[in-house]
Amino acid sequence: MFDYFVDKVLITENEIKDRIDELAKRIAFHYKDLSEILLMGLLKGSVPFIVDLMRAIESYNTVSIKIDFMLVSSYSGDKSRGEAQIELDHKIDIAGYDVILVDDIIDTGVTIHTVEKLLLERNPRSLRTCVLLDKPERREVDVEIDYLGFTIPNDFVIGYGLDIDENGRYLPYVASVDLEKYMSEKK
Ligand code: IMP
Ligand code: MG
Repeated sequence: MFDYFVDKVLITENEIKDRIDELAKRIAFHYKDLSEILLMGLLKGSVPFIVDLMRAIESYNTVSIKIDFMLVSSYSGDKSRGEAQIELDHKIDIAGYDVILVDDIIDTGVTIHTVEKLLLERNPRSLRTCVLLDKPERREVDVEIDYLGFTIPNDFVIGYGLDIDENGRYLPYVASVDLEKYMSEKK
């Protein structure tokens, strides 16, 4: 068993799929009068989500889609509170693009807030946010999410892109982690 540290499945594979279809439908119709949109994913956690989202939007055949990625690290330690670091920047010049920032989860809000501010300085035509999971209890910075998948309790979660020490990203569902078990069994 590679998922020995999974405590409880919070969102099943089917629930994720159905919700992504709903979000994709809303996006497809909001942007139907445009020729293209750019989905900007944050590595690595958003990868499964952005891939499924892109294909679901495409299935409505209203707008064509480009994707690009950034790698951003957030530090929740006191030292760098309120800051996120850009480790890898996107390749496409987003000036004039209708951009949707896509991430796996919003926790304190620092990551989305930092990236949103940076992207706005690069003059996109429009910028919206799409996030699969929201842990509102942990919010430190006010951020508006335009397309949200699920609100979840304040548990540490893995799966569908989310990791604990890089483990568990491949799981097809979102699950809470038994942190005690994980700590005692981790190699
Ligand atoms: P924020 O900047 O505090 O909103 O944090 C966002 C980032 O923290 C996400 O992109 C995740 O990489 C990570 N993160 C926050 N909560 C969790 C979790 O429960 N499991 C895995 N990663 C998480
Ligand atoms: Mg992340």
